[in-house]
Amino acid sequence: MMAKCNDVHRAVVLALVLLTHARITVGCPTGCQCMQKVKEHLTICMNTSLTEIPDNIPANTDQLHFKGNRIRILRRGSFTRLSSLNTLSLTHCQIEIIEPNAFSGLGSLAYLDLQFNGIRELQPYAFSGLFALKRLLLDNNNLTEVHNFAFNGLNLTRLRMERNPELRDISTKAFQGAKINELFIMNSVLGNKSLRALAPLSDTLRELSWQGNRQPLTIPKDLFQGFTFQTLKLNDNGITDAQFLEYVVADDLSLEGNPTGPIDFSHYPNLRQVRVLRLSRTGFTRVDGKYFAGLPHLAQLYLSENGIMTLPSNLQSVFEQLQRIVLDKNNIYCNCELRWFKRWLGLTRTFVQGATCSHPFLEDIPFIDESVMTCSPPKLISVSHGRNVSLGTELTLSCVARGNPAPTVTWHWPNGEKTVTAPPIDRNITETHGQLHIVAAQHVDQGRFRCDAVNVVGNVSAAAEILVYRVTYDLQVGDKGRCSGQLRLHLVYLVLACLCGKVLVSHVC
Ligand SMILES: *[C@@H]1O[C@H](CO)[C@@H](O)[C@H](O)[C@H]1NC(C)=O
Ligand SMILES: *[C@@H]1O[C@H](CO)[C@@H](O)[C@H](O)[C@H]1NC(C)=O
Ligand SMILES: *[C@@H]1O[C@H](CO)[C@@H](O)[C@H](O)[C@H]1NC(C)=O
Ligand SMILES: *[C@@H]1O[C@H](CO)[C@@H](O)[C@H](O)[C@H]1NC(C)=O
Ligand SMILES: *[C@@H]1O[C@H](CO)[C@@H](O)[C@H](O)[C@H]1NC(C)=O
Ligand SMILES: *[C@@H]1O[C@H](CO)[C@@H](O)[C@H](O)[C@H]1NC(C)=O
Ligand SMILES: *[C@@H]1O[C@H](CO)[C@@H](O)[C@H](O)[C@H]1NC(C)=O
Repeated sequence: MMAKCNDVHRAVVLALVLLTHARITVGCPTGCQCMQKVKEHLTICMNTSLTEIPDNIPANTDQLHFKGNRIRILRRGSFTRLSSLNTLSLTHCQIEIIEPNAFSGLGSLAYLDLQFNGIRELQPYAFSGLFALKRLLLDNNNLTEVHNFAFNGLNLTRLRMERNPELRDISTKAFQGAKINELFIMNSVLGNKSLRALAPLSDTLRELSWQGNRQPLTIPKDLFQGFTFQTLKLNDNGITDAQFLEYVVADDLSLEGNPTGPIDFSHYPNLRQVRVLRLSRTGFTRVDGKYFAGLPHLAQLYLSENGIMTLPSNLQSVFEQLQRIVLDKNNIYCNCELRWFKRWLGLTRTFVQGATCSHPFLEDIPFIDESVMTCSPPKLISVSHGRNVSLGTELTLSCVARGNPAPTVTWHWPNGEKTVTAPPIDRNITETHGQLHIVAAQHVDQGRFRCDAVNVVGNVSAAAEILVYRVTYDLQVGDKGRCSGQLRLHLVYLVLACLCGKVLVSHVC
């Protein structure tokens, strides 16, 4: 009700404004209002159920507002006389088809609004003749396909094609011959191939917002080679592979809602210029200072809803240069590892949002008493005993250690090798299960295996002695022990042969 009253109120005000500031002209299409307002000539044909563009629109019209009509087909030459038209709004007109040269003659048109229609395809040269066009709005249509050369000849500051839910293909040469500064595409079902259509825009495109594609996109590694973006927003596109960042140059980069996982930005030196980095909902579970160390201009970092459990202290130098950090809805575990962060929060002027512990207690970090942010050194819960095993035996050694945070467990082999088990990412889990697996014990495996469990506050170790022997059973085969020496020899051969993968048919006694 409120909205309706407001609309009525607005309409009355508009009418009053029009009456006081405008002079109604004669020779106006039926159902339309033609008026002069200051220096502008307006023609307004709203909700008039017109099925064609009338041919008696005053030729000096600057603005034509044509909303809520029933133009199914926008015919060629519909506007040929309107050479001074600057603004053309054709929203809610049920337009399905744009004929070639529909807009010819509109050499002064700067703004063309075609939102909320049922346009299905954009044919080659669909907008030819629109030499002065700056903004083209095609949101909320029924686009399925954009053909080669559809935008040929245009020099736009902005092209919008959002919410065309059936848009599945933008042909490779759709933007050939066009200059576009800002491009918006959202909620479509475009295929990977459509990304290649962007290539002709490398010199002019400054803002690309391509979001919410309902099929996962794989961005070719070299796609953005040669582009210089002010804003590159690729949210919710199912992107898993971030390799394309190699060629990205952007001021404001947004990858929100893509399952990329943690990204080490130090691998992408072209990103040096980034000032704003939006990484919420990307599965960025692990953050590390070195990931961001190569971004000297970074000022804003968004990391909400990533399941981050801890903030290593090497982030401090990164955080210090920032103006804004957003950490909402993570799973931060407040033990001694977060003390640096708490202290830093007390000193910094950086705006930090979402500095909250989820575990082991729920509290805003600035209000926590530092003395309860504790850790505990590793303890060994269970370690395999030393064993004597025969050559070729399969063997697993385990080492379970507990601590806060859960320790890193390393098995050191007698030959100097290491088997490392990192602690679980989930800080809620306080045990690490370090396992070492030997497929077939060899003599070189014999010796002292050492398990080390290490966390930020301490370390502990234990050893297991492994002896590998040959099979030398004194089998009670036959009688009188006559052939036992021979048998021993055969068994050794058998084991060696098995290890060599050969089959030995051995006649024993
Ligand atoms: C046109 O019709 C729409 C929907 O019926 C309505 O919301 C709008 O207020 C109307 N506009 C004018 C100017 O009459
Ligand atoms: C868009 O297409 C669908 C199905 O093709 C149709 O039902 C719908 O009416 C169309 N919308 C418009 C505004 O033409
Ligand atoms: C395109 O438009 C911009 C202004 O938006 C203008 O500076 C530029 O010269 C135009 N380029 C061409 C080729 O018309
Ligand atoms: C893009 O390519 C990837 C990998 O080749 C594939 O899994 C994905 O479905 C493709 N997406 C589209 C929209 O074609
Ligand atoms: C392994 O065998 C050696 C010699 O046969 C023996 O001294 C040692 O105690 C055995 N160790 C274990 C763990 O059984
Ligand atoms: C951590 O453990 C607490 C209680 O032990 C539990 O309520 C919480 O859901 C756990 N959180 C995660 C992320 O596993
Ligand atoms: C283990 O702790 C000792 C002191 O208790 C220390 O000297 C040593 O460097 C630590 N080792 C590791 C791997 O942290």
